[in-house]
Amino acid sequence: MSVCSTTGLSQAQQERWPYLYKHLIEDIDVPDLSTITEAYISSLDGDLKKVIKKIGDAKAKSRESLTNHLTSLMFRRFGKNAMIEAFGSSVTDLSIGAGDLDLCLSFKNKTPRKVLRKISGLLHEEGMENIQLIPKARIPIVKFKDPRSGLDVDISLDNRLAIYNSHLLKSYAQEDRLRRLVHMVKYWSSRRGINNAFDGSLSSYAWTLLTIQHAQLVQPALAPNRQENCPSKPLSFQGKTFDVGFNDDDFKTENTQSLASLLISFFDRFATRWDWESMVVSIRNGEAHSNKAKKWNHTGPLPLEVVTGVDDGRMEHVMPIEDPFDHEHDLSRVVRAEGAMSIQNEFMRVITMLSEGKSWHDICEPVFEIDEEPDDLFHDLRSTSKDEIATRLENLRTNLDEVEGQIRDLVGERQNSKELLDLLRGGLRETRNVKSDRQQILSELRPLSMKVQELREVRDGINQRIAIPTKRIHEEMVRVFEKLTTEVDVFNAPNLGVEKGDFAYFFELQAMYEASLKSNEAHQEFIRLRREQNEEYRALKKTKKQEEDVLAKLVESNPALEGVHLNPKSVREFQKNAKLLQRSINEQYSSKHELRREIGRLEAWQRISSKRNQNRGQRSTNRESTRRRPRAPDVNINEVREKASSGDALSLTELDALLSKGGIASIGNANNQKSQQKQRQSKKRSSRKIDIRQGRTRGRKETRK
Ligand code: CTP
Ligand code: MG
Repeated sequence: MSVCSTTGLSQAQQERWPYLYKHLIEDIDVPDLSTITEAYISSLDGDLKKVIKKIGDAKAKSRESLTNHLTSLMFRRFGKNAMIEAFGSSVTDLSIGAGDLDLCLSFKNKTPRKVLRKISGLLHEEGMENIQLIPKARIPIVKFKDPRSGLDVDISLDNRLAIYNSHLLKSYAQEDRLRRLVHMVKYWSSRRGINNAFDGSLSSYAWTLLTIQHAQLVQPALAPNRQENCPSKPLSFQGKTFDVGFNDDDFKTENTQSLASLLISFFDRFATRWDWESMVVSIRNGEAHSNKAKKWNHTGPLPLEVVTGVDDGRMEHVMPIEDPFDHEHDLSRVVRAEGAMSIQNEFMRVITMLSEGKSWHDICEPVFEIDEEPDDLFHDLRSTSKDEIATRLENLRTNLDEVEGQIRDLVGERQNSKELLDLLRGGLRETRNVKSDRQQILSELRPLSMKVQELREVRDGINQRIAIPTKRIHEEMVRVFEKLTTEVDVFNAPNLGVEKGDFAYFFELQAMYEASLKSNEAHQEFIRLRREQNEEYRALKKTKKQEEDVLAKLVESNPALEGVHLNPKSVREFQKNAKLLQRSINEQYSSKHELRREIGRLEAWQRISSKRNQNRGQRSTNRESTRRRPRAPDVNINEVREKASSGDALSLTELDALLSKGGIASIGNANNQKSQQKQRQSKKRSSRKIDIRQGRTRGRKETRK
């Protein structure tokens, strides 16, 4: 695979970022959008209107009912201590339908322990999918998907600033064209795969701030600076204080540009004119902040250096965007090198395509398969025979019974396992004192035994040498002493040899006597310590008995504990088992919910098709007798569409009405409207180039006020 000698990009990377690559290697001008014709702007406005009609927040009702459902779930689990509040696009009016549902969970009092885990357990029981915990983030989050509504949900913990900044965005969204502009930027960035902070590009929130900044900078301004000249409102959060005050007054703009023209200038500004190296997007400033003043100089390698493997350091402030309340928070800190390259590539692509007069539809061609709702809920059943559907239903019901049975078994087993775990933990707690007593005894017993051994050796050593009892030695000593000290019979005086022998014998007896006394002493001490030792042994036995009693009591209350050792290792094993069981239960819950959904769908189809057949029969009878058409179902089709899109249950009549009006595909796809007035944007052509070293666009700098 060939690597470009100028940029270092591999063949695959050149193909991945073709627009950026082209500008990096060819010293060509960046397309000039000032030459765009009024006719094109007008047709683009027409395109935008169509998209706006289509994307209108069809899931608003689903969001509302899911929020209510999750709120009551949290109440049930955590009581009135828990509070759920929505933020993000569901409250800012900036939703394009495809966005997630952002919820903030906070607690009036103390936050319960292991709260994310508890929430995750609840969500599994509810059949939610793709549950992910992000506990270590600045704001801990649980992410999941609700399979019924298809909504992705983020529940973040105590995300107070987000609630306030959502109010600020909602205030900006009062201006209709700004709101639409945000919708279009979000629509473009999401379809082009560059609005996911978790994937290393910019969040929808960051794109929204960029759009607001643009609206503040167009002449005449489309949006004011709502944080200027307003009373301050301090908020203490995570040890810092933030000013969350802003001005919510109506703003009368003198700007008359059309949406397309505003969108073109948005791309023109950020693709080519914004100097990301020296300017920070700052809506609280109403214009760019200098990165020097903010001390947000780009540090670390450039995206191009990272993706080509020249440098693997950490990039900082690669596209600096300041949070309106948390001024230290740069929204681009999540942007990774690949994300930055993709964003630059998309900017180059969009301005190239705009300069070529391409349609908005082509510009927003999705980079991945979009998970559109199926055109028709029953598309695969229409050509399936009645009998086949009945058989499928029967199989599904059998499967469901089995899965429910397995869940019951697993839940029972987990319950048992938890009970055993609780018993074991209780037993361990009960024997904790006994255990520490035993440790104490053992620590005393060790030196005691050594001392006993030592004394035994002293005593036995002496006894081996001196077999005569002390008393006898003493008597002998007295006898010899008397013999040596009685008055000498001068006529019968002992000779020197005998005398010497007696003295030597006496000294020997004396030494024996001393040794014998020492042996006796050692023996006495030995006896005393042996007694002490025996007492310690008895105490040790008693602790063992106490432990056995606790275990016996446990076994009595639950025979499954027979043979289990009362120690922390056993507790850990039981914990592991409970976790594994929970995992299996969660898997079974997902299968159960899936089966139920499919059964519901097949049953609905059975009801609809049998009703249709009846109607058909009825119609032919009527035609024969009265030759009049039967009346269409008496329901409001728009309400039904709303209901269907929010995932609410539909009656048979409603389903019938929906199907006869084009099925699910018809939702949010109504009337086309006329195109708006044309407007020409006249801007001087400027020669803008890509800085090859940077791998980012550079151009004529924005003029600051
Ligand atoms: N938010 C934030 N800080 C971030 C990202 C997001 O405070 N770094 C908050 C903002 O209040 C924002 C909300 O989270 O309004 C939701 O962010 P996001 O989902 O990116 O924006 P939405 O407008 O909800 O976009 P979408 O419709 O795509 O979900
Ligand atoms: Mg969101």
